[in-house]
Amino acid sequence: MVARVIPVVPFDLVVFGGTGDLAQRKLLPALFRRMVDGQALPDSRIIAAARRDLGADGFRRRVEAALRVHVGPEQLDPDRLAEFLCALDYVRLDAADEDGWAALFHRLKDSERMRVFYLSVAPQLFAPISERLATSGCLTPDTRLVVEKPLGHDFASARKLNRQLATIFDERQIYRIDHFLGKETVQNLMALRFANALFEPIWNARHVDHVQITVAERVGVRGRGAYYDQNGAVRDMMQNHLLQLLCLIAMEPPAHFEPDAVRDEKLKVLRSLKPLDGPGDVVLGQYRGINGEPDYVEDAGSPGSRTESFAAIKVEIANWRWNGTPFYLRTGKRLQARVSEIAVVFKDAPHSIFPASAGGTNPNVLAIRLQPDEGITLRLTIKEPGPGGMRLCQVPLDMTFAKTLGAQGLRIPGAYERLVMDVIRGDQTLFMRNDEVEAAWRWIDPIIAAADTAPEGPRSYDSYSSGPEEALMLMHRDGRRWRALAA
Ligand code: BG6
Repeated sequence: MVARVIPVVPFDLVVFGGTGDLAQRKLLPALFRRMVDGQALPDSRIIAAARRDLGADGFRRRVEAALRVHVGPEQLDPDRLAEFLCALDYVRLDAADEDGWAALFHRLKDSERMRVFYLSVAPQLFAPISERLATSGCLTPDTRLVVEKPLGHDFASARKLNRQLATIFDERQIYRIDHFLGKETVQNLMALRFANALFEPIWNARHVDHVQITVAERVGVRGRGAYYDQNGAVRDMMQNHLLQLLCLIAMEPPAHFEPDAVRDEKLKVLRSLKPLDGPGDVVLGQYRGINGEPDYVEDAGSPGSRTESFAAIKVEIANWRWNGTPFYLRTGKRLQARVSEIAVVFKDAPHSIFPASAGGTNPNVLAIRLQPDEGITLRLTIKEPGPGGMRLCQVPLDMTFAKTLGAQGLRIPGAYERLVMDVIRGDQTLFMRNDEVEAAWRWIDPIIAAADTAPEGPRSYDSYSSGPEEALMLMHRDGRRWRALAA
């Protein structure tokens, strides 16, 4: 089976911060894969704009080295690699002063290709770079701008940034990436919900007991301490990735699969989140080293830091569909396993007709696994095979497409492959709109304010555990339990 690939128009993609980690590790490998798959046309250009004095050849050597690390050897066909490297160019430019902007303008001025400016730089440079792009004449009416989190530090700074960008770009030109939305299973979630008649009638508080959204990582913050310690799990993960997943699970069916129709529905969810009453529904944690491994504060290089590396929150949505169904969100570093999943836990059967000796029924659980082993499973209760009367057991109805597609020779594309091609196609469906980002911050701000003024800092938890004890209590007190963190 061969994946269908629809080629895109030729483009000039200018990557500010093109020599940085994100560009080298994610973005350029993603573009290379799209070229190998025949989607991005060879007459497109990728121009890195950065401060170092590298020159096009120096940049190409650097990208080649990065591709050798981040792209599987089976994809590194020498001809395609040469073709890709040929499409690369480099402009030495300082985002903070005049140097290099005229050179960038000259590089672009005779090109008819569609233009994308990807700002893979510190967020404080988003506005100054946008302004210089405008004053140096680099913008066309069809130009697109790509920015990535952190999009603000709180509601006020997010709004300020949105306003600054709006003085130069139209909202339809701005692509705010949340890379979780590019993950294959996340998109599949929309197909599952809106392309099947099966789930919609039971997708509500009458039938759903609760929803759990987990994004757990084994890695700590070493190497990213300077960024992470200023942010913490709530800003780094909850405000964006987890709330976005919550929106996709909870939103009403949009009238069309079109950018504003989808984003309008997500926005309604964000605006329906109940403000948290008190500190009881939020648990923040910070990892402790075990077996000689460092504590968070050591990894972050920030003695005495109160920044959280773990957060669990009980969220309620005040609308007709979800009133009474809690959503439990948790995310953290240095946890037992790397696993991201959404579990929709349905209510138990109203009455059991089976004798106690059959064993109890268990609620059906629809688990949507983002990583690893992308796929969807539905836990059902069936009769245990064999003679000896009725005994009940639980089995998963397994739609693990990572394996199925792999067996058919299909590769699941990475999030950046999908998202960068959507920018080029001009499809904003999987990108956050200004009002969504602001609504998410509006709800998150009081959580951060409460943590900042709390007499106690985050709860301590052992590295490679399932998080602080208090996070377990968050569910136990409601008579529920978290799903095991198993990879
Ligand atoms: C990023 C966060 O947005 O997402 C990181 O800043 C986190 O802290 C990462 O590790 C997780 O993404 P993924 O795709 O590796 O699960």
